Amino acid sequence: MQRDGATQSLWQSNVPDHADSGSMPDRPVDVLIVGGGITGLGTALRLQQMGKSCIVAESHSLCYGTTGGTTAHLNTFFDTTYDIVESDFSEDAARLLHTAARSALDLVKRNIAELGIDCGHSERDGYVYAQTADQEHQLDKMFQASVNAGAEVEYTDQIPVPFPFRKAIVYRRQAQFHPTRYVMALAKAFVAAGGRILQGCRVEQFDKVGELLSVHTSRGDIQAHWLIWATHIPPGINLLHFRNAPYRSYALALTLDNDQYPEGLAYDLYDPYHYFRTQEVDGRRYLIAGGEDHKTAHVTNTDQCFFALEAYVRNHFAVGEVAFRWSSQYYEPADGLPYIGHLPGNPEKVLVATGYSGNGMTYSHIAAMTLTDLIVKGDSGYASLFAPGRVKPVAGFMDFVKENADVVAQFVGKRIKTEKLRELADLAPGEGRLVKFEGHNIALYKNDAGKLFALNPVCTHAKCVVDWNRAEQSWDCPCHGARYSVTGDVLTGPARANLEQIDLEDL
Ligand code: FES
Repeated sequence: MQRDGATQSLWQSNVPDHADSGSMPDRPVDVLIVGGGITGLGTALRLQQMGKSCIVAESHSLCYGTTGGTTAHLNTFFDTTYDIVESDFSEDAARLLHTAARSALDLVKRNIAELGIDCGHSERDGYVYAQTADQEHQLDKMFQASVNAGAEVEYTDQIPVPFPFRKAIVYRRQAQFHPTRYVMALAKAFVAAGGRILQGCRVEQFDKVGELLSVHTSRGDIQAHWLIWATHIPPGINLLHFRNAPYRSYALALTLDNDQYPEGLAYDLYDPYHYFRTQEVDGRRYLIAGGEDHKTAHVTNTDQCFFALEAYVRNHFAVGEVAFRWSSQYYEPADGLPYIGHLPGNPEKVLVATGYSGNGMTYSHIAAMTLTDLIVKGDSGYASLFAPGRVKPVAGFMDFVKENADVVAQFVGKRIKTEKLRELADLAPGEGRLVKFEGHNIALYKNDAGKLFALNPVCTHAKCVVDWNRAEQSWDCPCHGARYSVTGDVLTGPARANLEQIDLEDL
């Protein structure tokens, strides 16, 4: 299965790509869903089951983006903890958030039961543990607010991972599964219900023509009544690009020599935090460990993040083999809650779901419920909590915006002598680097055969400068998370256009 980087996730192995690239429709559809990940397919299936005609358009292949790179924890608690939601929003908001989370996990379970999906789903307890006095205080606040929100949570004196701890709590009825097997089964059910999937179909622009949206794609125009951006972050430039910051997280799937695989899900309270769980795939068990998160394109030597994570795990577990390692991108919303609903500045029937923080498996299903209700019933009980147009000036918001405002740079000149660049950049094969050439930045990459590739590093989305991601062999934009291949092709939006290639003249 293909994915948006050079590393391979546990979820890509032994899962074939969706084979059919689909045919274009010859009549208008009710809903065009852009993005073939868990949000897109989860929403599309629900809408199709409710009688709406739907198309899913995916620019690459199903699960190409973050769905193929998740660690697939299904939680009723979030990176934005209930005590923060209580203080920044309200107690009612925290209760509603918990209700949404519980319903999302129930929806996953129902889909699996009704469709007979074999995806290793199981309910597990989720443990959060404190290792310092400060974390203990933080944990107590989390616990009380979780109780207030309605979570099934209690203090415990045991955790399923071999770490010393001072205090721990356990959330009951959390869950885990194999995400790509789940999504591929949703896709199959969606097609069986009359839905249509278009792979290799990049959605570019749309016009409002009467009651319809005329949507321009790389494979031709599609007429739709509704448009949903389930693309992780919507393309174009809109309010949400200033309210989400892209981050990357790192994951390992390891075998253990002593068979002491954790039975539950476990999370520490460091920032960034570490997370652990076990998944059996095709008869083999893996410890999945994650962490070392950082803002996208703020670390170039991303191999180092894997090394740090592996060292941390090896200190505590009897690690046999590191079977898989992969990294993935997520969007951190400015006020801690995702944006699900009408996309500000767009026609009424254009919807979006983004800003899931590190909780995409749960939020994708909250999005599926919310967006479906908005389309089918005209409203959703969750609409105001997640409204993308909300104005929520919380503490730290200005810092967030500042952090997100990376530098704009210019580039002039498209033909450069290769030899001059060789002098500038003594790159190892497989390495990329930003180099200065006559006052301009150039994104330079050398492949394993020694051939140089030069790109204008100015991101085509809003002109920030991309940086090299060594582990994933990609050029990543720090501002809104667009990512490009070594030849400048768009891997993930919000950019629509490739990076400009610079011709290199051999002497
Ligand atoms: Fe927005 Fe690069 S993703 S400027």
